Amino acid sequence: MSRNMDVLVVGGGMITADLILPSLYQLQRKEVIGEITVCALTSGPLRALAENQEIRGAFPGQAFTAQPPLADPPEKNRPELFEQLIARMPPRHLVVAAVPDQMHYAVVMQALRGNQHVLCVKPLVLRHAQALEIEAEARQRGLFVGVEYHKRFDRRSLVARRDYRMGRFGAFVMGDAKLIEPYYYRHSNFQNWFTIESTDPFTYIGCHYVDLVYFITGLRPVEVSLAGVRGKFPNGKEGFLWSSGRVRWENGALLSVTNGLGYPDLAAGSNDQGLVMFCEGSDRTGMIRHDDHNRGAAYAYLDGIGPGGSHYNYVSPDFFRLVPWDGKGLKPVGYGFDSIEAIVESARRVEAAGDLGARRASAALIDEAGIVATPANSSINELVVEAARMSILADGRAVTIEHDGPASRVRPRDAQGGKS
Ligand SMILES: NC(=O)c1ccc[n+]([C@@H]2O[C@H](COP(=O)([O-])OP(=O)(O)OC[C@H]3O[C@@H](n4cnc5c(N)ncnc54)[C@H](O)[C@@H]3O)[C@@H](O)[C@H]2O)c1
Repeated sequence: MSRNMDVLVVGGGMITADLILPSLYQLQRKEVIGEITVCALTSGPLRALAENQEIRGAFPGQAFTAQPPLADPPEKNRPELFEQLIARMPPRHLVVAAVPDQMHYAVVMQALRGNQHVLCVKPLVLRHAQALEIEAEARQRGLFVGVEYHKRFDRRSLVARRDYRMGRFGAFVMGDAKLIEPYYYRHSNFQNWFTIESTDPFTYIGCHYVDLVYFITGLRPVEVSLAGVRGKFPNGKEGFLWSSGRVRWENGALLSVTNGLGYPDLAAGSNDQGLVMFCEGSDRTGMIRHDDHNRGAAYAYLDGIGPGGSHYNYVSPDFFRLVPWDGKGLKPVGYGFDSIEAIVESARRVEAAGDLGARRASAALIDEAGIVATPANSSINELVVEAARMSILADGRAVTIEHDGPASRVRPRDAQGGKS
C-alpha cells in the first residue's frame, strides 16, 4: 500500500470517546494510520465527540470527518449511512465496528464484503455460526479481523498466561470473576439497546473474564448457566441489570461470573472488578489473584470530578490514561491503547504481506500466536455468549457447549437426556 490505512469508525458512543478515538489519534500522530471518519446513527454523538474537551486538549490540531455531518439535524436517523461509506472506501483500509453488540455482525460483514480489514469491539458477534461466517469471509479475501479484548493486553494477564503455561500454578480448578459497571451507565444510550431480548451484563462484560481464563489457561468452556435480575432503565425499558453466571471448563473447573450495571456512582471506582483462580498442583495448590479494582492509586479530589461525580477514587493507571509526554498535548497509555495498536499493527502486517496467499499466511500466524483475538482463535467466546443468552432467557437453565470445530453447538443440558 502506498499510503497509510484510512479508518472508518462505525459508532460514536462511549467506547469511541473513551478509548478508540484517542488511540486512533495517537496512531495518526505517529503516522501509522491516515484519515479518520466517525459515523454514528445521528449527528448528536458526533458533535459531543468533536467538542470533547479532553480529547481536543490531548490532540491539538487533529480532527475526524463526521458522518452524518455535524450540521445535520441531531434527530435525523441515518441507519444505512455506514453501508454507503464502506462502499465508497478504496479496498483494504480499516473499519472499526463500535456499535451495540447486536449490530456487530452487520457492520463486520458489510466491511468484509467491501474488502476492508476490521477491528471489532467485543463480543465479536452473538452467535457461533456468525463468527465462522466472518472467519471464512476474511480468509477468502485475505483480510484481517481483530476483536478488541483489551484485558488480554493488561500486563498481569500476559504474566499469568506465561506462568500458567509453564506449570507454575497447577491446573485451574475454581475461580471467581466480577465486573460491575457504574450505576450511571443506566442513564446513558445503553437504555436504548441494553434490553432483555438483546443482551445482558454477562454478554456485555462477563465475556472479558471468560476470555481471560481461556487466554491464560487454554482451557475451553463446556457449560454455562446464567441467571439475571431484571430492572427498568430510566426510560422505562426493561433490561437484565445484574447477572450471575457459572462456567464449567473442559477439565471440570468452575468459574463464577458476577456482573451488573450498578456500582455506586459515589463509591471509589469507577467500577468493581477482579479475578481469582485457584489451581491444583502436586500436594499443594496455586493461585492467581488480580485486583483490577484498586490498582494501588487512590486520589481524593477537591471537586467531584471522578466518574459518577465522586471525590475519592481508585485511579487505574493501567487501562487508559492521557498523560504528559515530550510531544504536543497528551499521549494515551495503558492496555486499552496497547490493544488498539496491536490490532491496527496486525492489519498493517497482513496488508503489507502482499498477494492473497501471503496475506492469508500472515493472518494465520496471528491466529496461531493467540495474543490478538481473532474469529479463528477466540470463537469459544461466541459459543459462551450463545449458551449464556439461551440460559438467561430460560432463567438459569444449564446449557452445554459441544466442541466440534465448525459443527460446534450449544444446547440445553436436559435436552440431551441428562440431569437438570
Ligand atoms: N470494555 C469494553 O470492551 C467495552 C466498553 C464499552 C463498550 N464496549 C462495546 O462497544 C459497543 C458500543 O458500546 P458503547 O458503550 O460505545 O455504546 P453507545 O450506546 O454509547 O454507542 C453506540 C453508538 O452506535 C451508534 N450506532 C447505532 N446504530 C448505528 C448505525 N446504524 N450506524 C452508525 N452508528 C450507529 C450510535 O449512534 C452510538 O454512537 C458495544 O458492543 C459494547 O459492548 C466495549
